[in-house]
Amino acid sequence: MKVVKALKQLQPEDMRVLNAIERGMALYEIVPFDQIVRLSGLSPEEVSIRLRKLHKLDLIRRSLTPYLGYVLKVAGYDCLALNALSKANILYAIGRKLGVGKEADVYDALTPAGTRVAVKFHRLGRTSFRQTRRFRVYVGDRRHISWLYQSRLAAEREYEALRLVFPKGVHAPKPIGHNRHVVVTSIIEGAPLNEIKDLPNPKELLEAIIEDVRIAYQEAGVIHGDLSEYNIIVDLSKDELTHVIIDWPQWVSTAHPSAEELLRRDLRNVIAFFKRKYDVYMELDEALEYVRS
Ligand SMILES: Nc1ncnc2c1ncn2[C@@H]1O[C@H](COP(=O)(O)OP(=O)(O)O)[C@@H](O)[C@H]1O
Ligand SMILES: [Mg+2]
Repeated sequence: MKVVKALKQLQPEDMRVLNAIERGMALYEIVPFDQIVRLSGLSPEEVSIRLRKLHKLDLIRRSLTPYLGYVLKVAGYDCLALNALSKANILYAIGRKLGVGKEADVYDALTPAGTRVAVKFHRLGRTSFRQTRRFRVYVGDRRHISWLYQSRLAAEREYEALRLVFPKGVHAPKPIGHNRHVVVTSIIEGAPLNEIKDLPNPKELLEAIIEDVRIAYQEAGVIHGDLSEYNIIVDLSKDELTHVIIDWPQWVSTAHPSAEELLRRDLRNVIAFFKRKYDVYMELDEALEYVRS
């Protein structure tokens, strides 16, 4: 991962400046140099040196108009999160890319104890940020930092869902740690259901998935909200087939006004997939009733 190389070259003063820019972005669309000095608590000379270095490493973006200022790039935000996770003794090293989704990059990694884990970087809303960047200088709301804010929110929500469902026995990644837009979980072997050629016992798997939906609903008060063959990982390499439901940031609580609608859609997605691909039939209303009672 390119950002790891940059991270290795960063000293505490560099992190302080990155941190100052991050905090400044809650107030400014482009954080003025003076504010970076103020928020970092370093001298203007020191800040200048650090900014030049961070810019060269491609972690921040510089703006010269309407005044000299800076914003974090995604790589800079990655550095802040990885640094915090390393300091918290959650991460030791980042390895290769495990998967790319619509809204995330997932890497494998090692903990200080040598356990392999998965690191998910949430990536949302980057384009809208670029479009609006030039027009507003100061805004009192958070819209101008939408990519940063949305990515962090998605990670927080996903981590919360995993903390609710995993202890109840739902087949989900085990939550290990979280910082900013990054979630660390157990690593899942296998392939998404849509890529599997042949299943030994599709009916059994469908029932096990419905059972997960029921436990999440009944015991954790959680509805996945984006359940489909793309977010169910199946491992056929062991004697017994195992499955894991991933990708939880869009979950809703069972008290949410759209809860029933989303539960129905989740169930419909998986039931339709098993019918289409494996000719396994299940009545949607029966599944719904089973999950709710
Ligand atoms: N815990 C994990 N262990 C191994 N691979 C994972 C894990 N979580 C996600 N992946 C891989 O990364 C891909 C994208 O992850 P996902 O959580 O579905 O994010 P997205 O919102 O981008 O779809 C998955 O399809 C899968 O290949
Ligand atoms: Mg996904």
